Amino acid sequence: MEEIKLDISRVHQFISAKEINQLSQETLVAQNTLYQGDGQGNDYLGWLHLPKEITSAMIDGMEQAVAGLREKTEVLVAVGIGGSYLGARAVNDALAHNFAHLQKDQKAPHMLFAGQNIGEDYMHELLELLDEKEYSIVVISKSGTTTEPAIAFRILKNHLEQKLGKEEARDRIIAVTDASKGALRQLAGKEGYRSYVIPDNVGGRFSVFTPVGLIPLAICGVDIRELVSGALEMSKRCDPSIPFEENPAALYACTRNALYRSGKKIELLVNYHNKLHYVSEWWKQLYGESEGKEGLGIFPAAVDNSTDLHSMGQYIQEGERTLFETVISVEQADHQISIPGDADNLDQLNYLEGKNIDHVNKMAELGTILAHLDGGVPNIRISLPALNARWLGQLLYFFENACGISGYMLGINPFNQPGVEAYKRNMFALLEKPGFEKETASIKSRL
Ligand code: PA5
Repeated sequence: MEEIKLDISRVHQFISAKEINQLSQETLVAQNTLYQGDGQGNDYLGWLHLPKEITSAMIDGMEQAVAGLREKTEVLVAVGIGGSYLGARAVNDALAHNFAHLQKDQKAPHMLFAGQNIGEDYMHELLELLDEKEYSIVVISKSGTTTEPAIAFRILKNHLEQKLGKEEARDRIIAVTDASKGALRQLAGKEGYRSYVIPDNVGGRFSVFTPVGLIPLAICGVDIRELVSGALEMSKRCDPSIPFEENPAALYACTRNALYRSGKKIELLVNYHNKLHYVSEWWKQLYGESEGKEGLGIFPAAVDNSTDLHSMGQYIQEGERTLFETVISVEQADHQISIPGDADNLDQLNYLEGKNIDHVNKMAELGTILAHLDGGVPNIRISLPALNARWLGQLLYFFENACGISGYMLGINPFNQPGVEAYKRNMFALLEKPGFEKETASIKSRL
């Protein structure tokens, strides 16, 4: 049967199956805490059962609501940061044509991003491009007050209004935000934007299956029904009724915590498919923001192979032995290109004649896994049958579920992010934001 497979057999030369089993009870207690909803941060568990709560009618509603906008949009600018941006980007980039922006026959709007950085040149160049394009905006912020997207949206809103007039601009802007709180909700109400709600009980990094992810993806032609149905399938495989050995989320959470306790403090998420780069970025936020607390947590890092084998490969092979790898492998490439023969064979590649590029990629993957094992890097492998909306839905939900379990195994609250406020306080003090006068005086004394 085709399914996402989790293979932990290549950690056993570092941690025995018996040691992993010894941690299974603790894993199941953490899983129980998650499903009972009696752990820390339990007011943010809305994501857990979300896939089965999204009805077909809700998906139809979203698809229909954005159909008109899709027709007149060449570029969709998704404005948001962190959890309000990475889910849509992960799925979009995994499924879009690599060179979609240069293709003549545009099948669906291209998704571009704003508010995910504070780059002045980035914004300038984006505006230059948008001068020439038919564009629409989805602005996403749960709090409605995050500085980066708020600045970007203010600028883009002005640009769109100047370009098309207020009426048409209003028709091309969708807001995704809290049901009642925050500046964006107020603005959406005042301007009359179409809007969608981010449920109170779903935090940003767990929000890809809410309108935060689904609305921009639907506009850009992603099959959100398949995405959600993949998530639903995986939610069944991760259910507590599924025995530990067959439950991918429990097994992954258990294995990575066993490795962590044995001194493997860094997890490298490795892909051999360039379109998965932003899945790794999404995963880094999910695990980094959920687990990095109270002096604890596996540090989430990522590499894109084989590209990064030529930059990070040396460290992974021989650097400090605190790493383990989780490889995401895509079994079937969408397209086949075989390597041609050459009469002169000056590049000495004729031994590969007739082989597909993906065969070489798979041998690079396997060879690297074995080399890293020899170098002391344990390996977890997750294989996807192919890269499409269904398997991505499964993959993202699997990581979310395992993250909840893993966070509780660490003994922290996986659903808050108190640490992200520290830089904001300093930035507001330095920007002399009203209300931060005391902090401004104190930070200036440190400069
Ligand atoms: O996961 C999180 O909570 C954060 O990454 C937020 O999503 C991010 O800071 C953006 O916040 P907001 O959606 O309130 O603008």
